[in-house]
Amino acid sequence: MKKLIILGSTGSIGRQTLDVVRKHQDAFQVVGLSAYRNIELLMDQVSEFRPKAVTVSDADLAQVLRDSLKENIKIFYGKKGLTELALFDADLVLNALVGSVGLESTIEVIKSGRTLALANKESMVVGGEIINKLLSKTEATIIPVDSEHSAIYQCLIGEKTKEVNKIILTASGGPFKGRKTTDLRLVTVKETLAHPKWNMGKKISIDSATLMNKGLEVIEAHFLFHVDYDKVEVLIHPQSVIHSMVEFIDGSIKAHLGPTDMRIPIQYALSYPSRLPSPTPMLNLLETRQLTFEEPDLVNFPCLKYAIESGKKGGTFPSVLNAANEEVVAAFLNEEISFLSIPKIIYKVLSEHEVVEPTGLDVLKMVEDWARSRTKEIIGLERS
Ligand SMILES: NC(=O)c1ccc[n+]([C@@H]2O[C@H](COP(=O)([O-])OP(=O)(O)OC[C@H]3O[C@@H](n4cnc5c(N)ncnc54)[C@H](OP(=O)(O)O)[C@@H]3O)[C@@H](O)[C@H]2O)c1
Repeated sequence: MKKLIILGSTGSIGRQTLDVVRKHQDAFQVVGLSAYRNIELLMDQVSEFRPKAVTVSDADLAQVLRDSLKENIKIFYGKKGLTELALFDADLVLNALVGSVGLESTIEVIKSGRTLALANKESMVVGGEIINKLLSKTEATIIPVDSEHSAIYQCLIGEKTKEVNKIILTASGGPFKGRKTTDLRLVTVKETLAHPKWNMGKKISIDSATLMNKGLEVIEAHFLFHVDYDKVEVLIHPQSVIHSMVEFIDGSIKAHLGPTDMRIPIQYALSYPSRLPSPTPMLNLLETRQLTFEEPDLVNFPCLKYAIESGKKGGTFPSVLNAANEEVVAAFLNEEISFLSIPKIIYKVLSEHEVVEPTGLDVLKMVEDWARSRTKEIIGLERS
């Protein structure tokens, strides 16, 4: 029985993880859960999964939980609470927090030498260099949860990094595939959230529509699999049947195919190195019929280009890109800015950044704070 801690259990990935646990109760035991503000759902999860500890955003919500829960469990709160929960006794911690707030938990789990199932891609984007240095000094391992990175991870089993010619990350293209800038001027939040293939949290859904999600994934792949940016290619594959591929120096390509359901890569990360019966119906290739590929449109969806350029520049650029993106996505969701302002503002913030060596979390925090406040200033100007 593997003991699990699920950070972000009330989110899209967190809820799907609990569904995997529900289907394999003899394999997994939940010992820790975290929510930010959705304590109603957290209370339901506590009564169903009986964890030993939970954490929420602040002291007031922690008190509400203390007053309401009949179960005798530890209740933490705030940033410190996330760290305390992440360090609770467990075999595997799944980080399904959204945004760079997940970085500290990622680092704490790695320092503790345990296995981290990583959905929180922003951790890798912002702290990839620091994380990789820590990984080389501990027993810790990261098993990716993102469907593309899980696919690549599986294609690389038994292979040598030096024999990889390139990694091919597939992308559905999002809800606006094929549209031009002029058609994107007036798109609404509702249209942007309507992803054609995946049902996900709000932030990643907006990132998928702008193609920033694929850009963050390119940076994530660079750090997770130790490959140069020139060896990571993005292909639009609207059917989302191939989750990603690896091309080797002898011309062979390994592809990972499967149903479009995040519970499969989540379950793989939890059960690795074993496999468990599928939580979803199997893929029917006869129904799939066609697998098509296109080049990404970097002119009308420039966020992907900005992300790749930031990754190549390195240092604190990915951190600035990510912070600016988190702020503009929040502003778009609040209907403060238009869809087209998203790349425009990110570009402006990136162009004002002077790169710094990301020597530690304090440097990253300083740079992130600058990027967030500068982005908010520009959002303010955009609205006035
Ligand atoms: N959803 C997918 O299908 C998918 C696929 C691949 C990768 N990912 C990646 O997985 C991560 C999670 O995505 P998601 O779609 O599951 O996000 P989500 O639905 O928005 O859930 C986010 C979780 O984090 C918690 N949270 C939010 N802000 C927080 C904060 N400041 N401090 C602590 N906890 C906070 C939320 O708590 P409350 O509910 O209480 O607000 C919730 O439990 C992201 O990095 C995303 O890119 C997601």
